[in-house]
Amino acid sequence: MNKKITVIGSLNYDVILKIPRLPFKGETLTANGAAFSAGGKGANQAVQAAKLKTPTYMVGCVGTDASADFLVNTAKEYGVNVDYIRKVPGSSGMGVINAVEDGSVYACIVRGANFEVTKDNIVDTVNITENADITRLSGLVEDLQNEIPVEIIAYAIDKAKEAGCIVVLNAAPAIELPEECLSKVDILVVNEVEAEFYCHEKIDSVEKAKTEIKKMAEKYNNNVIFTLGKDGAVAYENGTIEFIPAMKVDAIETTGAGDSYIGAVSHSIIEGKSLIEACKFATKCSAITVCRMGAQPSMPTLEDVE
Ligand code: RIB
Repeated sequence: MNKKITVIGSLNYDVILKIPRLPFKGETLTANGAAFSAGGKGANQAVQAAKLKTPTYMVGCVGTDASADFLVNTAKEYGVNVDYIRKVPGSSGMGVINAVEDGSVYACIVRGANFEVTKDNIVDTVNITENADITRLSGLVEDLQNEIPVEIIAYAIDKAKEAGCIVVLNAAPAIELPEECLSKVDILVVNEVEAEFYCHEKIDSVEKAKTEIKKMAEKYNNNVIFTLGKDGAVAYENGTIEFIPAMKVDAIETTGAGDSYIGAVSHSIIEGKSLIEACKFATKCSAITVCRMGAQPSMPTLEDVE
């Protein structure tokens, strides 16, 4: 079978500051250190899947600035097919992440070239899917996030369904999405903050997550994962709800942990695993990712996980 993952999403140049606490208004705070790395939810998820040896294609845009080649080359070095990343005039996307010593993360993104992804880019991806054996549906996963324009997300979901892909949507950052988009995806993944946005309820316990995930999955008639950071994840798969605890590790920095998780879920789904099995495998991947600085450099290979 011709197994492939197509990720349509963002590529960002990440500046990660390790800080003891958030600065007060008017205060200049000294960071304990900084890391500069390739990021963006799309590219991060693509890199994780590629590191796990699944053929992975990245569809997105970078700018013409200094970080553009770095973003493309880094993805390529990690094994991602970068033929469908387009260069557009202007700045590449950027992430500025304050990683606080207590493990909390405060991030801002600059859209840059990520908002130049067009419907033509999505049509390009038909080439990718046509080259795969689309009669065997589990061989194709399309993975999307919310760091590109909403109309492009909607269009990509439609094209992916036409091509027979399993569609994974990481609805992050949380934004208003047409309800029909959410109903068309096969697997919806959100963290606890995004889950609160979509469910209009505080997700402050595993029990609450179980209650809300059921409502959400039944509303949109799909399978859903709520990632809960150091507490683990809750997955809804065809009527079964399971809590998957996180592994206990000494976390260094958590940027990209959720992306590592989703890249690993997509990889496992293509390998024919159930969603709950996929989550168990993804838990191991993200546990490794949080033990190093930065998103893509921290993500494990298949050998690391084994
Ligand atoms: O999920 C982490 C990612 O979110 C970072 O790499 C940052 O660029 C933002 O897209």
